[in-house]
Amino acid sequence: MEIREATAADTAAISETARAALVLDAEQAPSLVARLLRPPQGRRWRVLVTGDLDGVLFASVSGGDGSAGYVDLLAVASGSQGMGRGRALVTAAEDWFRGQGAAEARFAGNPPCYAWPGIDVRYTPAACLAESLGYERYTVAWNMTADLTADLSTRPDLTRLAGKGVSVHRAGQADMGPVLAFVREHWSDNWAWETEQSTGCHYASRDGEILGFAAWGARPAWFGPMGVAEAARGLGVGRVLLRRCLAEQRAAGLTSAQISWVGPLGFYSRAVGARAERVFWLYRKDLR
Ligand SMILES: CC(C)(COP(=O)(O)OP(=O)(O)OC[C@H]1O[C@@H](n2cnc3c(N)ncnc32)[C@H](O)[C@@H]1OP(=O)(O)O)[C@@H](O)C(=O)NCCC(=O)NCCS
Repeated sequence: MEIREATAADTAAISETARAALVLDAEQAPSLVARLLRPPQGRRWRVLVTGDLDGVLFASVSGGDGSAGYVDLLAVASGSQGMGRGRALVTAAEDWFRGQGAAEARFAGNPPCYAWPGIDVRYTPAACLAESLGYERYTVAWNMTADLTADLSTRPDLTRLAGKGVSVHRAGQADMGPVLAFVREHWSDNWAWETEQSTGCHYASRDGEILGFAAWGARPAWFGPMGVAEAARGLGVGRVLLRRCLAEQRAAGLTSAQISWVGPLGFYSRAVGARAERVFWLYRKDLR
């Protein structure tokens, strides 16, 4: 089976293949493809397609030591499934990973530019494909869903915070520099990259010092990232920042938001009644 590297001329066909294969995400498939085609600078990545463009695989190598290769997106159009295209694409990606010096291949998100944290368990044939190629399931991840018709008021919290000298702002263009510096200092370049891609960003400060931030819209329906500096935790800053972002997403016409690759289940559940919903299996395989 012919597998080759995609060219710019293949972009429309790739989007169509992704839309036709990703039945749980058909609407978002073109924007996922567009996102993966614009990763952060310095990332090593490659798009492989079948000769007939009915199958596509986005591959990348981890930043830093480059020890892991990631299958970022795999899609075979529904009418062409079950004929070996998926297997051939993954095998070709593994060859490329080896050539890049990667010791391991993963079906997992390569932050900060990823489609999902891993294989959504409901894409069961993809999990079967990974297992049949010798991949081991090593952990589980999940997204949470926030219902935007819920109560997202912030007034009492804002009054209480004001009493402690804390104010909350929407980040305008001039604020983004200091906010991104705060994100880099307390978390990572990865989070700063995602925050830069956001549609809306809010931050809390006291005496000119940023205490926490939250962003949404790096992908239209997605919330995150968000973080509160350790010294400011427990004040209720996170809850206000979360609610401010979600209220903006509601104003933008959304009825629910995805909180991706969640850590603190209890925080999101208590703050806005979010529920764990999409569950992902992460797979890996030794390439040596
Ligand atoms: C997952 C997917 C890429 C597989 O591509 P494919 O070309 O159909 O797969 P292949 O024909 O190469 O099959 C390879 C192996 O995958 C597994 N597999 C493929 N289709 C399967 C199905 N319907 N049920 C169970 N296992 C399946 C099998 O283990 C198969 O090997 P076998 O036939 O020797 O048992 C394709 O089903 C797809 O695009 N699905 C929707 C998109 C998707 O799930 N992407 C991943 C999102 S996280």
